[in-house]
Amino acid sequence: MASYLDGVPMSGIIRIRDMMYSVANPFRLDQGDVSFDSPGSVKSAMARAIAENKTHYLQTTGVPRLRELIAAKLRDKNRIPVDDPEDVLVTHGGIHGLYLICRALLEPGDEVLIPDPEWPPAAGNILAAQGVPVGCPLHESKGWRYDLDELESKITPKTRILYLNSPHNPTGGVLTRSDIDRLAAIARERKLWVISDEAYEDVVFEGEHVSIASLPGMYARTIPLYTLSKSYAMTGLRLGYVAIRDETIRERAKKLLFYTASNVASIVQFGGIGALEGPQDCIEEFRTELRARRDLFYEGIAEAAGGVFSGKRPAGAFYAFLRIREGGRESEMWGADSRPPDSWRMVEYLIENGRIGAVPGVDFGARGEGYVRFCFARDRKELNGALESMKQLFHVTPAVDPHGLTGNKVAVE
Ligand SMILES: Cc1ncc(COP(=O)(O)O)c(C=O)c1O
Repeated sequence: MASYLDGVPMSGIIRIRDMMYSVANPFRLDQGDVSFDSPGSVKSAMARAIAENKTHYLQTTGVPRLRELIAAKLRDKNRIPVDDPEDVLVTHGGIHGLYLICRALLEPGDEVLIPDPEWPPAAGNILAAQGVPVGCPLHESKGWRYDLDELESKITPKTRILYLNSPHNPTGGVLTRSDIDRLAAIARERKLWVISDEAYEDVVFEGEHVSIASLPGMYARTIPLYTLSKSYAMTGLRLGYVAIRDETIRERAKKLLFYTASNVASIVQFGGIGALEGPQDCIEEFRTELRARRDLFYEGIAEAAGGVFSGKRPAGAFYAFLRIREGGRESEMWGADSRPPDSWRMVEYLIENGRIGAVPGVDFGARGEGYVRFCFARDRKELNGALESMKQLFHVTPAVDPHGLTGNKVAVE
């Protein structure tokens, strides 16, 4: 029986999401959902598809027009030599694409190098395909990038795949062109497959986004993975895609796509056509607004949390991955000892007493302990509300003093 699935951990993000549903007027800085509305081009294309009764089964790998548009986008924007739309598989969001690729590539016991910390579905999907995720540190001191000698030292005869995610969830680290060059050289030399998760390709504030599959010879051994969730504010619609040049792997993924979804919802695929055919201004508008929200949040939290959290502004994605101060005066709130609160205790405290959703760093892997992730893709009102609530929490005002600590003077200057 499939008992190996019992060892696949459930992401803590789901536990937190459930906790948040029981909070009145919450500040949803926990999940990675943008507050923007989907562009008009998406909504009108879906409305038209409904009016035209496009509510029936479709080609498993996606509507031909959508696959053509995706292939053209991969060529023009990502510089990946996708000659044939046949390479493209339309998936039920990025997470489904990752599931298909892991199942199509891995044999039991194959090792996959993943970043540590990392978005939980990466390890989860590798384990669900009976692979072995091997964490490779991202260093805060390097802007949450790899030490590439260290990465190479993790490669064993069982390593099959390098899973990359840049811009990175949860840290916001962005790999540089020279990182990508060297990673490509490592993959070629060690004959590794690469899964390149580019969910945040459009959310880069500093530096540039480089698709590793655009480098010479790399598309043959790289499966690039994308989603419309973040770039077009379509998180709930569930639309993603992968491009696979290798026919054998593609056929396997196609079978899995059919057996898990038959085809992605027809209306959603027409919405995707609307997104790619329509004006692309929203991408730049979202990025500009996300940068402003990042700055608002980082400027605000320095004062609101009185130094409890620290960290540099991320170069990409839309998360503040912040270190919890060790041994500060606020630790009096956690009890007699002055140990730093673990990341779960901090998050439970923020949710229960401040209505502020956040994700404990440890949910992203061992190196995430001691950190908390906040999503700053929420609207300014919500971000300001969370900061205001935090101000009260960390100044321990009588109104929100959960542990009866008023008088303990856990105030910040
Ligand atoms: C790193 C990363 N990859 C892929 C995805 C997939 O997103 P979706 O399944 O919404 O398309 C996400 C979503 O949060 C992500 O953070």
